[in-house]
Amino acid sequence: MIVQDQWYVAAYGREIRHELFSRTVCGESILFWRTEAGEVTAMSDRCVHRRFPLSQAPTRLVGDQVVCGYHGFTYGADGSCVAVPGQTRVPRTARLRSYPVVEQDSFVWVFIGDPDRAATTRIPRAPWLADPEWTTVSGMEPLAARAGLLVDNLLDLSHETYLHGGYIGTPEVAGTPITTEVDDEAGVVRVTRHMDDAECPPFYSRSTGLTGRIARWQDIEYTPPCLYLLHSRIAPVGSVPRPDGSDPDAFHVEVVYAITPETENSTHDFWAVARDFARDDQEVSDFLAEQNRTVVLQDVEALDVLERVIATEPAGYQELSINIDTGGLAARRMLERLAGAATGVRA
Ligand code: FES
Ligand SMILES: [Fe+2]
Repeated sequence: MIVQDQWYVAAYGREIRHELFSRTVCGESILFWRTEAGEVTAMSDRCVHRRFPLSQAPTRLVGDQVVCGYHGFTYGADGSCVAVPGQTRVPRTARLRSYPVVEQDSFVWVFIGDPDRAATTRIPRAPWLADPEWTTVSGMEPLAARAGLLVDNLLDLSHETYLHGGYIGTPEVAGTPITTEVDDEAGVVRVTRHMDDAECPPFYSRSTGLTGRIARWQDIEYTPPCLYLLHSRIAPVGSVPRPDGSDPDAFHVEVVYAITPETENSTHDFWAVARDFARDDQEVSDFLAEQNRTVVLQDVEALDVLERVIATEPAGYQELSINIDTGGLAARRMLERLAGAATGVRA
């Protein structure tokens, strides 16, 4: 199920330069490039003439125009065709579908669905990723599994204990109950797990320098369909934020995922880790980047297997859910509601 009429992360801003770049988002093959003035454009990656992919050589970007490499149809930054070969009249309908696009919080967001709904549909925020007060490492891994499996995975972090033992998992994660809250007005599912006396996993001991046991708080906010935030607080046992909201004894990590369907059965798994400590320490950056990528790849391996299992299982398999699944189930219900509210317009 791909929810239409929503904003999705298509790329990091750094990926889009003054050259042709293609990425499939929600089953739609989209061409991105940055104009000479620095604006990101998004349009269909199929020439209106004979559907040659415009990201494909010898298609060229000349100034702010794309010249199709097959027969030379030429398009402007808004997707309109400005020249065709062998005649002066450009057919009125010669126009690439263009997509609403916004660059925000280091991401390039693209609107999938009825473009008239873009302006009134909220883009969730991840402000740390572009904030100079925070240091961020980030990447993207391709997932050969449906986006819903990644949503399930991220909303139930009890799997850290088993799948990510030795990296971010300790016994206390699976052993500590969660509370789940559905905020329908904000369109957010929140899942909270506060471990007040927990083992410190290598991910945090090596990055913060804390030794011994810790208070470890995990506060998840998922805004379906695309943006997932994990506010992670690491502190010496017994330390709590002060009444004025300051929290000087704690280390804060904002773990951000953008969950973007590539197709019905594959996903772009964007991940970022922002921190408010050791901000200029390149070793800590390298360590967190390498560790988080490893953790993401452990999830990718497991979810790719699950996708193959689902694809080949007989109909009628019944999942069994328990308390740890309340966040994931709430997320599924919210996704279903969003899908029901969409116009169903498809490219
Ligand atoms: S396919 Fe692009 S000009 Fe013919
Ligand atoms: Fe995981």
